Amino acid sequence: MTQLRTKIAGLGFYVPDNVVTNDDLSKVMDTNDQWIRERTGIEERRYVTRFKDTPSTMGTEAAKIAMERANVGPEDIDFVIFATLSPDYYFPGGGVLVQRQLGLGHCGALDVRNQCSGFVYGLSVADQYIRTGTYKNILLIGAEAHSPGIDFSTRGRDVTVIFGDGAGAAILQPTTEEGKGVLTTHLHADGNYAEKLAFMNPGSHSGVFTGQDDIFPKTDPYASLMITPQMVETGQHYPNMDGQFVFKNAVKRFPEVIGEALQATGLSVKDIDLLVPHQANLRIAQFVQKILQLSDDKVYNNIQKYGNTTAASIPIALCEAWEKGLVKEGDLVCLAAFGSGFTWASALIRW
Ligand code: UT7
Repeated sequence: MTQLRTKIAGLGFYVPDNVVTNDDLSKVMDTNDQWIRERTGIEERRYVTRFKDTPSTMGTEAAKIAMERANVGPEDIDFVIFATLSPDYYFPGGGVLVQRQLGLGHCGALDVRNQCSGFVYGLSVADQYIRTGTYKNILLIGAEAHSPGIDFSTRGRDVTVIFGDGAGAAILQPTTEEGKGVLTTHLHADGNYAEKLAFMNPGSHSGVFTGQDDIFPKTDPYASLMITPQMVETGQHYPNMDGQFVFKNAVKRFPEVIGEALQATGLSVKDIDLLVPHQANLRIAQFVQKILQLSDDKVYNNIQKYGNTTAASIPIALCEAWEKGLVKEGDLVCLAAFGSGFTWASALIRW
């Protein structure tokens, strides 16, 4: 029987028009262009235009481009996978909002909550459906709007300067072309470090894991535990991150999970034509590049322009690299991600 594999039939990305430079940020918090460039490589990022762009609207725009390039219409899409950590609504998820905006009919819509690894996790899920012949056109989106939910006071500067907004999308289809398509995917997680990079409030945890007591009202049995005045007063309704700890784990897990994918396919680092790492921090990508001994032309980075767009970063970077002609027929493309969860993942694709 002919083996079905998953190919990327179309890619698209959308970033908002609103460019925010490091100097812009230094006007509202105690930071500066030099610190941000040196520690992260970021020069500017995009922020949603308020009251216009959301993760699902940006995902929809990216999807329209990917669909046109794959030559598929709304009636052809038989499954949606939407990855984000910054959803339009707490529920329902962004998948159904995209479905509505694109007029996709009643296909299934799945939301993925794996943060920076969301796109690769989504790709892995899609790959299973395509290989089994279940679906023929899957729309996979990674989209984030961080800027509405980060702390623009100096208190939040370590997190805030890193993140940017945007969306990327891919149309995934079956292929029977010998040796082509998604060759392998590898997913990992370690929930022991769930709170090392997290956006916990609003949430239903009521301090059970953190011992955090002071932000919950104790006397009123019906008071909201999801969002409380104390949370807002102390800024605990913003994301928090132990940057150095995340960094140390990232530089370990990226090479590890890339090595795992290579080993599973009997390939070696020398076979990689392009590595598209999650754009967490340029220093992390450079570290990984050094460990793997990859030349500059084999690693694609665009964090300088967009910041860290979490689940959107890989599809944005992959699409941009493809648009620049850096992804060619027959190339071996490696995707790799690490982030909150912790979760980490890799994929190898023969284009
Ligand atoms: O997708 C995964 C998402 N996250 C990551 O991948 C994050 C990984 N970690 C990182 O990227 C880095 O740890 C950061 C960029 C977040 C921070 O860089 P760092 O070199 O680890 O700096 P640090 O946290 O050790 O802070 C050094 C100093 C501190 O001041 P003191 O204590 O030395 O006086 C910070 O308060 O830099 C200060 N600082 C800043 N200064 C100016 C922290 N953030 C800023 C800022 N501007 N934005």
